Amino acid sequence: SPDLSITNVTAHLQQLQSIATANGGNRATGRPGYKASLDWVKAKLDAAGYTTQVQQFSTSSGTSYNLVADWPGGDAEHVVMTGAHLDSVSAGPGINDNGTGSAAILEAALAWAASGNTAKNHLRFAWWGAEEQGLLGSNHYMRNLSTADKDRIDLYMNYDMVGSPNPGYFVYDDNPVGNGARDAMTAYYTSKGIPWEYIDVQGRSDHASFRSYGIATTGMYSGGETTKTSAQASKWGGTAGQAFDPCYHRSCDTISNINTTALDRNLDMIGHMVWLYADKDFGTTLPPT
Ligand code: PHE
Ligand code: ZN
Ligand code: ZN
Ligand code: ZN
Repeated sequence: SPDLSITNVTAHLQQLQSIATANGGNRATGRPGYKASLDWVKAKLDAAGYTTQVQQFSTSSGTSYNLVADWPGGDAEHVVMTGAHLDSVSAGPGINDNGTGSAAILEAALAWAASGNTAKNHLRFAWWGAEEQGLLGSNHYMRNLSTADKDRIDLYMNYDMVGSPNPGYFVYDDNPVGNGARDAMTAYYTSKGIPWEYIDVQGRSDHASFRSYGIATTGMYSGGETTKTSAQASKWGGTAGQAFDPCYHRSCDTISNINTTALDRNLDMIGHMVWLYADKDFGTTLPPT
């Protein structure tokens, strides 16, 4: 597995913070900080050799956009997707929610491009708009994808809040199909001596848009507005009786609202999952009869 650069991810987060600061303090749907964030991510991916597409859609909060980036090559019949929502709430810059997931998958995508590896499967990365309005971007993407293209997706991995300041390591998989991805994620944490818990996130992030079509999904979450118990503080450190992210959906979700150790661990987990599933053998899909 790759050792992805936390230095680079921190620089990406500083960039997202600067974009928010220059645009009224947020990167929310319908506000200029969202589009500026998307343009910045797109330019990095274009420069690295990705084929990018911007998908525009409208919401009651204004126009939003998804960014979809395909790495050329791999078996188009077996697509491995990694996604994160790029929008913040209007209350603040959204650096943990979800600058962290956005910056981590960006770094994984850039590192893959720089690695010179060839993947057995086709790798696709996505940055969703308007997650905070109810998973609108990922739903829009799936609704507009042909049945054949939906069937080509073997796995969707979702990263939403992966650097919470009082972190937990919550693994989710809202799908009985699975493709073993949840087990691969927990095995990775165990191999690094990082305790983890399963969580049922009740469809609270963009993986739900894939799950509802029967696509295998998994993801991790370092925790939000709920309180860390003393049992959780014993195994993970941090502060019992405090929220995993006391600045969840608030103006204080800034560049200071990050646990760098947790972000670094989750970054390397994401790299592991992308590298592993890039070459995963999903078997042969028989053509319909
Ligand atoms: N999707 C939620 C938000 O953006 C946070 C969340 C992420 C909740 C992952 C559960 C699991 O506010
Ligand atoms: Zn397949
Ligand atoms: Zn949120
Ligand atoms: Zn979120």
